[in-house]
Amino acid sequence: MAKLSFRDLDDSEIHDKRVLIRVDFNVPLSNDAVPRILDDTRIRETIPTLEYVLRRKAKVILCSHLGRPKGKIVPALSLRPVVDRLRELLDHLLGPQENVGFSPDCVGEIAIELVSQLGSGQTLLLENLRFHPEEEANDPRFAQQLAALCDVYINDAFGSAHRAHASTEGVTHFVSKSAAGLLLESELNHLGKALNVPDKPFVAILGGAKVSDKIGVIESLIEKADALLIGGGMAYTFLRAQGHSTGKSLVEEDKIGVARAALEQAKAKGIRFLMPVDHMLADSFDADAQPEPFEGNGPFPEGKMALDIGPKTIELFANEITSARTVLWNGPMGVFEFPEFSRGTNAIAKAVADNAEATTIVGGGDSVAAIQQSGFANHITHISTGGGASLEFMEGKILPGVEALTEKS
Ligand code: 3PG
Repeated sequence: MAKLSFRDLDDSEIHDKRVLIRVDFNVPLSNDAVPRILDDTRIRETIPTLEYVLRRKAKVILCSHLGRPKGKIVPALSLRPVVDRLRELLDHLLGPQENVGFSPDCVGEIAIELVSQLGSGQTLLLENLRFHPEEEANDPRFAQQLAALCDVYINDAFGSAHRAHASTEGVTHFVSKSAAGLLLESELNHLGKALNVPDKPFVAILGGAKVSDKIGVIESLIEKADALLIGGGMAYTFLRAQGHSTGKSLVEEDKIGVARAALEQAKAKGIRFLMPVDHMLADSFDADAQPEPFEGNGPFPEGKMALDIGPKTIELFANEITSARTVLWNGPMGVFEFPEFSRGTNAIAKAVADNAEATTIVGGGDSVAAIQQSGFANHITHISTGGGASLEFMEGKILPGVEALTEKS
């Protein structure tokens, strides 16, 4: 866990200093000629850190990646559209002399020049780090170039903390001061507490299409949770491992053995490992398919596939969620993007939000979207901004971006 919170830095170490903040502004953009930000959560979540340093009149330099341009300049993946949103969100802090500027490159002459022009309380967003192949290669010279732009480095990019890249790991070797931002700190505290010292009962809900994406998390949670609720496409690989015949449902044949081993691990550990007991079936993987309820796990009718959990499973899972004191949820219960098959995910979102007694933590794109659509997002204790990062953290892996700060401190 990062020991050094940047609030431990003296105000004098921030005031009038060049503070480079690695943020994760990898936000979804529309395909319009002038791209629009479709979800600004990751930008909004960094505002407390930005407020903190701007109130102390730092010269703020923001850097991030956007998408996967593979080391090339891809205009559609420019961070420029983020500048306007940042200006709106920081408006209350920006005086007539204080603006959010943009540098068309994250290193080199233009970046050096624009940083040198920054006044106290001003902000400069650098262009997409991944337009340079050196970022993902964690090239030391590139990391040094980034470090040379600042006096203090803050990492607030939890979503990228599982990447050992120049801006998340390499840079820390070349700066004299580095620290965790408020968002990174909050993510580590919430996820860390849920995993290491959860209030009991601790119920984890895992969904999503593939066992292969989540098996590390499942194995880790079997050791920590009191109950594991499994939904989504991956439930069918587990049902097959139990000997059920699941029709045309998504099954990873090569993961049936892994699923069987996880079931045995759960049994040996004595935790409740709950799987769907009824399903919404369809003829094909199609948004217009008609859902057909099916009870039990007996052979599915010829040619049918399960695309959502059924009402009995919702009730079973909701009962577990209601009596929990810590709930961790990652991954949808069905094909959430098809409205007809989003009921299971929405019902679980409501059950999680309704448990006011529990610490509730939600991560992963579709489960976060379901919580947001349910209108109860503000009932959730913590909504994680990390996709891959939160999964790796839950697996118990060391996140290089966090380790680099810890070593530094
Ligand atoms: C994410 O969206 O999970 C992070 O921004 C990391 O992106 P990446 O998987 O492209 O490294």
